[in-house]
Amino acid sequence: MSVYFDHSSTTPCLPSAVKLVKESLSRNFGNPSSVHELGLKAEKILKDTRKVAASVLKVKPEQIFFTSGGTEANNLALRGLVKNRRQRPVHIISSFIEHDSVYRTLQDLRGQEIEVTFIKPNSRGIIDPEKVKQSFKANTILVSIMQVNNETGALQPVREIGNLIKQLSSSLLFHVDAVQGLGHVPIALKEWQVDLASFSGHKIGAPKGTGFLYLKNQNLLKPIITGGDQENRLRSGTENVPGIAGLGAALEEIPELKQKKQPERLLRLKKHFLQQLDHKIPEALLNTPEESAPHIINFSLKKLPGEVLVNAMSSRGFYISSGSACHARRNTESRVLKKMGLSDGRLQGALRVSFGRQNQPGEIDRFLAALREEYDLLQ
Ligand SMILES: Cc1ncc(COP(=O)(O)O)c(C=O)c1O
Repeated sequence: MSVYFDHSSTTPCLPSAVKLVKESLSRNFGNPSSVHELGLKAEKILKDTRKVAASVLKVKPEQIFFTSGGTEANNLALRGLVKNRRQRPVHIISSFIEHDSVYRTLQDLRGQEIEVTFIKPNSRGIIDPEKVKQSFKANTILVSIMQVNNETGALQPVREIGNLIKQLSSSLLFHVDAVQGLGHVPIALKEWQVDLASFSGHKIGAPKGTGFLYLKNQNLLKPIITGGDQENRLRSGTENVPGIAGLGAALEEIPELKQKKQPERLLRLKKHFLQQLDHKIPEALLNTPEESAPHIINFSLKKLPGEVLVNAMSSRGFYISSGSACHARRNTESRVLKKMGLSDGRLQGALRVSFGRQNQPGEIDRFLAALREEYDLLQ
């Protein structure tokens, strides 16, 4: 039996989501813009999912805008905001630990009288709110900091940052990439004073190509895709109704809604993993700080490149990652771990495991026994 420990790359689609996707692909296949009955049925699917998303986040349904995933939500937030601001030059604050869909989008926007300050994390992979304060300028329009880092699992102090930036200027906006937080750690957009937040479906058991952007106020953005004016004129293109149906089902399964103790179960798995890692592979160096989400652990085995162990473990049916999924195939070193100041050996030997709802403690024991063997064999 294979063991899947790569849930922060993607998750299997939940059975309840598969059922609704199938129904929407075959029976309820209408275009939500059509005025006939099939169109109205499709429109109801959008309405229902929007309502569940809003209730998970304790916001209004009209503040939810469907996208093709986290990448598009981040692009829409950043590019749409810049497009909407006429005055130049403007300044944006973000960090070196953001996902590429934020980091590279900001790199792309840089220049043309748009200045971006990327904050370095501390050695534990956490952004210090004080550094946000120090980076603030009179023309700063936005701070974009993620909630949970996808490589290390480090929880960022988004509450502190949100409160701080509203003290700096009431018009300063706060964007949070909450893709890895949803379903794993509490999200309190209003308390954190968040104006824009990005979410992805395939990290929570919905199909790939689904996600959404929360917008406190639609007028903050200009659309970056033009066409048929779907999503209240903010995101044109016929909606991915089957995907959105599946997204609704997956959102319904979020522990807070179901009153299930999923994050506590994940937390127990994480504790078990850390205890057993220390016991079986004491030379492993942990790159995940204590303040972290329950589903991600990053550690380094110094004498071997991460990819070598990922491949060796894969051939034995254990699926893990050597960094973030998008880096894995490009074989580049992790920007996040590098900016944390890790040594070259530790950087190259980094491995990431991430748990999901089907994982069991026994799988951890089998995985670590196999990893010990492969590490001893290949060194
Ligand atoms: C933190 C973070 N943001 C954004 C994304 C992109 O989401 P998607 O795969 O839905 O485009 C990911 C995916 O790995 C992520 O981990």
